[in-house]
Amino acid sequence: MTDQLIDNVTADGAVYFIFGATGDLARRKLFPALYSLYREGKLGDKFAIVGLARRPRTDAQFREDVLESIKEFCRYKIGEGQDWQDFAERFTYHSLDIGNVDGFRELKASTEALEARYSIAGNRLFYLALAPELFGTVSRNLRDGGMLESAGWHRLVIEKPFGYDYPSASKLNEEIRHVFREDEVFRIDHYLGKEMVQNIEVIRFANAFFEPLWNKHHIANVQITLSETVGVEERGAYYNKSGALRDMVQNHMLQMLTMIAMEPPSHLDPEAIRDEKVKVLRSLRNFKSGDEVRERVIRGQYTSGELRGQALKGYREEDSVPADSTTETFFAARLFVDNFRWSGVPFYVRTGKRLPVKSTEIVVEFKNVPGNLLFASRQQLQPNLLVIRVNPMEGIYIRINAKKPGNEMTVQPVAMEFCQSCQVGINTPEAYERLIFDAARGDSTYFTRWDELAAAWQLVDPIAAAWQEHAADLAHYSAGAWGPQQAHKLLHQDGFHWWPVNGQDEDNVIWVSNTGK
Ligand code: BG6
Repeated sequence: MTDQLIDNVTADGAVYFIFGATGDLARRKLFPALYSLYREGKLGDKFAIVGLARRPRTDAQFREDVLESIKEFCRYKIGEGQDWQDFAERFTYHSLDIGNVDGFRELKASTEALEARYSIAGNRLFYLALAPELFGTVSRNLRDGGMLESAGWHRLVIEKPFGYDYPSASKLNEEIRHVFREDEVFRIDHYLGKEMVQNIEVIRFANAFFEPLWNKHHIANVQITLSETVGVEERGAYYNKSGALRDMVQNHMLQMLTMIAMEPPSHLDPEAIRDEKVKVLRSLRNFKSGDEVRERVIRGQYTSGELRGQALKGYREEDSVPADSTTETFFAARLFVDNFRWSGVPFYVRTGKRLPVKSTEIVVEFKNVPGNLLFASRQQLQPNLLVIRVNPMEGIYIRINAKKPGNEMTVQPVAMEFCQSCQVGINTPEAYERLIFDAARGDSTYFTRWDELAAAWQLVDPIAAAWQEHAADLAHYSAGAWGPQQAHKLLHQDGFHWWPVNGQDEDNVIWVSNTGK
């Protein structure tokens, strides 16, 4: 059942508490992730899972919900017979009013019974799949209800959005920190759990090719695209308050940028790695005025349009979105990391809903070779590219120039690709599997530390403030297009262009790939 990518470490025995157990995240991501970990033997045999939510539910009903979620969303199929029963019986359900400490006292008693039954040494992992406003209350009641008095470790796993701006994030952090130490808090950014985001470190630091070139002398620009075809679906109310800036940029986009830009860490331990990431975030050039925001940031909102023959409504017509909303569904910016390594290199980032494809890719564009006689008169050389494909395809490719076979000295771009997700037999763990497993092992490398988060908000807040003053800056794009025209101009002004994601659309490039194409 395990494959070549999966190692054989097992998490400590623990009770996993899922707050928000009847919600969407639990159903789509958490239960399937726990089942995959179980199937790979990573949970060991000393574990129990307690689902918590307000609505009454029996254990049997809850197990049915879990079964349905796994059938629909898990990469493993339910095993025959015993396999499922063994797993299902570890799940119990506890109806809880999280504002009432008495419920937590009852939870304490039932938890101790579970720990005795499965020989668990008091390790407790609390996963809050809840609105952030509730994090403080839950933390306090966990403490006051005696849930943190067991002999083992206690860890709090929390989801974004972590605040709305720096002051609210800071307040939230204080509420949590009254109860949990920083090393007990695991703030999830699911992009950090993605295979190819974790692979950035290996690509950079384990290859003699790249590191010597990884700087302002050789890199012309970096492009990070996170495009989605979906609109806001049933999340209009949440999204309208958050917009692309808070939903995607403050977290996923900046995290990917830091992985690309960070210095090699002094040790391979979580603190050393996160120290380097914080330095990048602190080196990001801040926006000092509204004019600077206008110059370097484009925000857009989709209007009605068409995608693959399907007519799509505009953002303002979506459910729970006000008809005069100025929330951005598209964001593009030119960012700079003002340090020795990156001085002057633009980092272009763009993300949006209702774009033509679902794709996350990072393109590192190298500088042109110095003009030389051999090529200058014949044709324009294309720059070398290193492309990291994060999602949904996973892999990398490099683009080089080579001679076209024949008598003429004609140069042709050749892309050499390793498509990881196309390899038969590679079944990479989902982001949530890795992250839950890491939290259960106490490895916080791929979780966001408070100072990272604080630095990210400090970059984002002036952008949000400038937008508030100048609502008129909002540009529009038709659903199904690559964002507003201004996003293209942003690069054209610098003599660059966005490389097509899914570069195989470029027809002059020869592909050498393990995809068989
Ligand atoms: C979430 C955002 O964090 O990431 C969503 O809230 C977005 O709006 C999602 O759709 C994208 O994640 P992925 O893994 O599908 O690229």
